[in-house]
Amino acid sequence: MCAQAPISVSDEVGRLLHTFARARKPQLSVEFGCSLGASAIYLAAALADNGAGRLITTEIHPGKARAARANVTQAGLGDLVEIRVGDALLTLDPVGEQVDLLVLDGWNELYLPVLDLLTPQLAPSALVIADLSADDPDLLPYLERVRASDDGWTSLTVPFDAGVEISIRDVPSG
Ligand SMILES: C[S@@+](CC[C@H](N)C(=O)[O-])C[C@H]1O[C@@H](n2cnc3c(N)ncnc32)[C@H](O)[C@@H]1O
Repeated sequence: MCAQAPISVSDEVGRLLHTFARARKPQLSVEFGCSLGASAIYLAAALADNGAGRLITTEIHPGKARAARANVTQAGLGDLVEIRVGDALLTLDPVGEQVDLLVLDGWNELYLPVLDLLTPQLAPSALVIADLSADDPDLLPYLERVRASDDGWTSLTVPFDAGVEISIRDVPSG
């Protein structure tokens, strides 16, 4: 993997993120994997359209994070986005509030650890959207988790690009 390469979401996946964020109306969205900020801009544009909510996104490379900050600011969305620089497993610990929308678009082997870290903070019926890479065995532990309906998850794969996994976890109340 080329750690420095910008690998932005496609316009189709970006519009999917925007649509789900419009529908879910998250107060707090969290993204693992900001890169240059393309997906963050789609998400933050939805928050602006919703009139509420903020996004915490994460990027391990300071140079990419600086470029993302400039891109988000240029898009007029800087007030809605916090970029945490460093390893997401550290920068998202803690988030501190309930997470309504979680987007996973960092390195695949960290999808499950990031999900595990944030699961205690997921709001009821939180939406978790993961950008997939085709046939990457590193994704299997994550996919096994969200496709396990006996753990409260409902999940389906949308066939955009290599696939986007859309998952919801319902925690029984009481
Ligand atoms: C596929 S790119 C993200 C693309 C971005 N979502 C977009 O649409 O522009 C994945 C990013 O995750 C970052 N990343 C990888 N491991 C990370 C970690 N442990 N913590 C934070 N960011 C990480 C990489 O540096 C890379 O920029």
